Amino acid sequence: CGDRIALTPPMGWNSWNCFAGEVSADKVKRAADAMVKSGLVNHGWTYINIDDFWQNHRDSKDQSLRGKFRDEAGYIIPNARFGDMKPLADYVHGLGLKIGLYSSPGPWTCGGCAGSYGYEKQDAESYAKWGFDYLKYDWCSYGNVIDGLPENDPNKVSSLSYKGGNELNTAIKPYKVMGEYLRQQPRDIVYSLCQYGMSDVWKWGDSVSGNCWRTTNDITDTWESVRSIALDQDKSAAWAKPGNWNDPDMLVVGTVGWGNPHKSKLKPDEQYLHISLWSLFSSPLLIGCDMEKLDDFTYSLLTNDEVIEVNQDPLGKEAVCVQTMGDVRVYVKELEDGSKAVGFCNFGLDIAQLSYKDFAKLGISGKQLVRDLWRQKNVSVINATNGQLSLKVPVHGVVFYKFTPAK
Ligand code: GLA
Repeated sequence: CGDRIALTPPMGWNSWNCFAGEVSADKVKRAADAMVKSGLVNHGWTYINIDDFWQNHRDSKDQSLRGKFRDEAGYIIPNARFGDMKPLADYVHGLGLKIGLYSSPGPWTCGGCAGSYGYEKQDAESYAKWGFDYLKYDWCSYGNVIDGLPENDPNKVSSLSYKGGNELNTAIKPYKVMGEYLRQQPRDIVYSLCQYGMSDVWKWGDSVSGNCWRTTNDITDTWESVRSIALDQDKSAAWAKPGNWNDPDMLVVGTVGWGNPHKSKLKPDEQYLHISLWSLFSSPLLIGCDMEKLDDFTYSLLTNDEVIEVNQDPLGKEAVCVQTMGDVRVYVKELEDGSKAVGFCNFGLDIAQLSYKDFAKLGISGKQLVRDLWRQKNVSVINATNGQLSLKVPVHGVVFYKFTPAK
């Protein structure tokens, strides 16, 4: 019953941004352990998602990735770093967490491991039999199928973008195939479509049983990446609803960077803005960092319950940008209790000092309690009909407030 799952955006961790092609069962277990030991588990963080490289690889020099792709009946054989997936899923479930994994509708994944093409039924059955709760399904190499090149042609991988008409059907088809097999399983599996926002996926993702879908290209831990992804979200905002989430990709905070582990290059204010926006966007929240290297700052970013509550609000609306004042964009997310989460987001290089009066644009009037969500403190009670509010929005930073009608 795919329409009754992921009623709030999934929250958890994904292996890609810190381990990429070096992921292993041991690293996944340690990430799950750290999720519990750090206490993040008490703030809603739940999924432990294995990304690419749990399957065998087509031409890697690493022998741990060079086993048989499938058995005689077409069931996928995980690589030697993982072995049997069921005990791993049991381990993660035993910690009170959920577990996810990754595949592609083409013959190969983005990293060149075995994809699901032609074996979608067997793969969906394996995921369910092993006890998986989440699948990220990544377009890579499906272009080869369309072009009649199911053997791999590296020059074609991910090269095609489809918009409109028959081509739209081409883009939808592989997601529909896997969606149907997933929903036939006796298990709820969150279905995450990954094809970088091609063919306006937010308009049809629900029709193929998708629960979330990437809206953009891959994120990196740079301001330019976060800024460009953030500014590209207005297009899909209207389609978010419980069970259907736009996904602007993972959280690039903490220690990231496979092969070159480093603290996120985002400055602290940029990280506050990143988390605030992903919260306003009702985005899936998937931590991309090494969970064993969680520093105090990252921990505080990921455990502010009032910020997380905005993301997890049951009404399931996505914030829209209602106003632009120079480099400041004002995002408003309607919440179930009638209050509004408002992000004053500064994308510019100067501190923004504002005497804010345009409350009608936020859809509020009368007496309002103003609460600072990052500081978890009431700021004031204002008269939104004819009052004003002084705001100082840091460079590449945010003022993240909640406005609630006051008696
Ligand atoms: C694509 C996706 C990433 C990651 C890699 C794995 O680039 O967008 O999130 O899953 O593939 O190869």
